[in-house]
Amino acid sequence: MEKWVVTGSAGYIGSHISRTLLERGIMVVGVDNFSSGLISNLHPAMEFHNLDIRDSESLENIFRNATGVIHSAGYKFAALSVNEPEEAFANNLEGTESVVAAMKKVGCQNIIFSSSCAVYGTPTHLPVTESSSLSPETPYAESKLLAEEAIRSSGINYISLRFFNVVGSGIDNIEDQSKHNLFPIILDAWQNNQIARITGKNFPTPDGTAIRDYIHVDDIVSAHIKSMEHFNSKPEVGNVYNLSLGEGVSVLQVMENFKEMLGRSFNFDYMGMREGDPSCIYGSALLAQSQLHWKPKKNLKDMVESAISARRTKLKIKSV
Ligand SMILES: NC(=O)c1ccc[n+]([C@@H]2O[C@H](COP(=O)([O-])OP(=O)(O)OC[C@H]3O[C@@H](n4cnc5c(N)ncnc54)[C@H](O)[C@@H]3O)[C@@H](O)[C@H]2O)c1
Repeated sequence: MEKWVVTGSAGYIGSHISRTLLERGIMVVGVDNFSSGLISNLHPAMEFHNLDIRDSESLENIFRNATGVIHSAGYKFAALSVNEPEEAFANNLEGTESVVAAMKKVGCQNIIFSSSCAVYGTPTHLPVTESSSLSPETPYAESKLLAEEAIRSSGINYISLRFFNVVGSGIDNIEDQSKHNLFPIILDAWQNNQIARITGKNFPTPDGTAIRDYIHVDDIVSAHIKSMEHFNSKPEVGNVYNLSLGEGVSVLQVMENFKEMLGRSFNFDYMGMREGDPSCIYGSALLAQSQLHWKPKKNLKDMVESAISARRTKLKIKSV
């Protein structure tokens, strides 16, 4: 049986990946320090280690005999990283160096890394492709780019996946917890009968709000499965892929979708812009489509619907 280690397995994306792999009969070993993840996200049947990924020595035992590592643990708060850069570098760069060192020590040969479209910064051409210029504008983005480089120069087989904005839910009540991401901001406001605040209305975009490329977490999971298959079909792999839907959607459009599905009980308003927020970014994932044979299947409606459903399930569980 294949064994894959998932770092960040208690997080939003890592838990979706590990649960899906387990359902497919793959042995999954999870690692997380719960800095932002939740115990309740872990599958009860999964082998799990409560560990900081910077503890390279302990990782060695866990990585022994593993087919590969899905490295999803990290600090993900791009805007916040401007005020706490040391957190981004410690968890994303040092953490990745530690993961790679442990892999090399025990001969674990394959890594799939959760990178980010933030490495492109404010794009000069759209859609952004993997050969677009790299211009990280926050410590978070810089730490992700340096982590990619640490992986590339390590000599192990790698696939770095540059996620665009990951949203939605694929499993029961598991959802993005971040207080800084659009979907949880909207759902928290709705749950607490408050007005959701959009960051920025003066961007140079048609409706004045920022344009992003949203991708369903289920499509992120399927890209990992395709990446794992890619390692099996090729002796040496080293590449970077965008994971995006390829569509620019404004924050206002997202809000309108939520309003349509949540009804009159949902309202929104505007607040100031955040540092390091580009006005418009969307990506081309044609490379992943042609080389990994991956194609995203979910649209914006699926993303919004599944996010609402996950929150409703969570509220039901809480009230029992
Ligand atoms: N969510 C997105 O839209 C998005 C976009 C681009 C990239 N990413 C990247 O994908 C990865 C997963 O994102 P997510 O949305 O699931 O975030 P998340 O915060 O829900 O999950 C990250 C997990 O990593 C764990 N972790 C953090 N530092 C750790 C450390 N030093 N040792 C052990 N565990 C640690 C956290 O406890 C958490 O469970 C992150 O690396 C993030 O930067 C996410």
